[in-house]
Amino acid sequence: MSPFTDKNGELYAEGVPVSAIAEAVGTPVYIYSRAELEARYLAYAQALEGMPGMICYAVKANGNLAVLNVLARLGAGFDIVSVGELEKVIAAGGDPARVVFSGVGKRADELARALEAGVYCFNVESEPELERLQAVAAAAGKVARISLRVNPDVDAQTHPYISTGLKENKFGIAIERAEAVYEKAAAMPNLEVSGVDCHIGSQLTTIAPFLDALDLLLGLIDRLAEKGITIRHLDLGGGLGITYQDEEPPAPDVYLAAVRERLGDRNLELILEPGRSIAGNAGILLTRVEMLKHTEHKQFAIVDAAMNDLIRPSLYGGWHDIQPVKPNGGEAQCYDIVGPVCESTDFLGKERMLSLAEGDLLAIHSAGAYCMGMTSNYNVRCRPPEVMVDGEAYHVVRQRETLEALLAAESLLP
Ligand code: LLP
Repeated sequence: MSPFTDKNGELYAEGVPVSAIAEAVGTPVYIYSRAELEARYLAYAQALEGMPGMICYAVKANGNLAVLNVLARLGAGFDIVSVGELEKVIAAGGDPARVVFSGVGKRADELARALEAGVYCFNVESEPELERLQAVAAAAGKVARISLRVNPDVDAQTHPYISTGLKENKFGIAIERAEAVYEKAAAMPNLEVSGVDCHIGSQLTTIAPFLDALDLLLGLIDRLAEKGITIRHLDLGGGLGITYQDEEPPAPDVYLAAVRERLGDRNLELILEPGRSIAGNAGILLTRVEMLKHTEHKQFAIVDAAMNDLIRPSLYGGWHDIQPVKPNGGEAQCYDIVGPVCESTDFLGKERMLSLAEGDLLAIHSAGAYCMGMTSNYNVRCRPPEVMVDGEAYHVVRQRETLEALLAAESLLP
C-alpha cells in the first residue's frame, strides 16, 4: 500500500498530514517516506536471499544523504557514476566495499579516488577506460577489480531516451567485441577480471528483455571460461519499472525468481542496480496552486513548482498522477497543470480532470526518483527542500536553496 494515502479527507505521508509539512516548510517541497524506501529495498534483498550477491541502489535516482543513509543502515550496496556520488555514499555511512562504479566517462582523478576508497568493482565501459584504469592502478600500486559493461543490443521497449542497451547507444562494449577486450584486460597487471555487467534501460515493465540480455551474458561467460577467464559475478544493472499510471511491472521477487532459475547452479554472485523501483514511489512533490487562468481554449492551473523542479514531463513526456491534497468535492474541470517558467514545455501534467481553487495544495506522485536529482536553477529558481517522513515524525533533510547562496556563487568582473 502506498505511504501516501487519504485519511480524514486529506493526504497523509505515513502518519503526517502533508498540509502540515507545507505550512512549516513551504512549497514546492519533496516529501519522502522512510517506510516505503525500506520496504522497496527489502523486497529486493529478500528476493536475493540464499544466494551470494548485492543490491546496489543506483544513487542517481535519488542521492539525498538521508535516503542513502536509510538504505545503508539496511546493508545496501550502491551503484555510483561519479566521485560526487561516491563521497555522498561515504558521508551517508555506506560501505565503499559494496559500491560498483558505472559510467562512460570516468576521469582519472575519479578512478584514483574510488580505488583509494576501495570500491568493490569498476564497471568499465570502453577500451580507453580500461587503459586509463590500468595506468591509475599501476601509479597507485594497486589492483582494480573490474567488470566489463557489455552492450547486448537488446531492445528494452522503453522510452528511447532511457533505453541504453542498443547498438546505437553510447553505453558499454558491443558483445561481439567483449571477448577480445576481456583478453586484453586479463593481460593487464593491475586489473583483476571479476564480472560482467549490463544495463539495458530504465522503466521496463516486462522481464523478457532482461532475460534476453541475461542469456547473451551467460553465453559470453561460457565462452570466456573456455579461454581460461573466470567470471565470478554477474551484474544485471537496474531498470525495473514502477506504476506511474496503469503500468504493471513485475515485483522484484518475480524478476529475481526468473533470473535465479536461468542461473541454475552456476557459481555466480548476482548484483542488481535498482534505482527507480526503490525510490520512485517513495516520494511526492507538493506544490500550491498560484492562479487559475482560463483562456478561450484551455484552463491552466499555474502552480509554484515548474520544469526546473520536476523535468520528467517536459523531457520524456513522463506522466505523474496529480491529486489535490484536500479534495473539495466540487465539479471537476479539465486543467493543464503548468509552472511559472517561460517555456511552453513547462508543464507537470496535461488535461487532468480536477476541481481546483487558488491556494490549493497538489501532490505530484511517483516523484521519489529522477526528480529532485534532475532539478536546475533555470529562471533563477531556488531548488525545493526535501523532507523525510518517518512514522508520525518528519525531518527536513535538505534545506530550501536560498537566493543568497545562488548569488554568492557568481561574481562580477574585476
Ligand atoms: N545502473 C546504470 C548503469 C544506470 O545507468 C541506471 C540508470 C541504473 C542502474 C538505474 O536504473 P533504474 O533502476 O532506476 O531504472 N532520468 C530518467 C532515467 C534515467 C536512468 C539512467 N540510468 C527518468 O527520469 O526516467
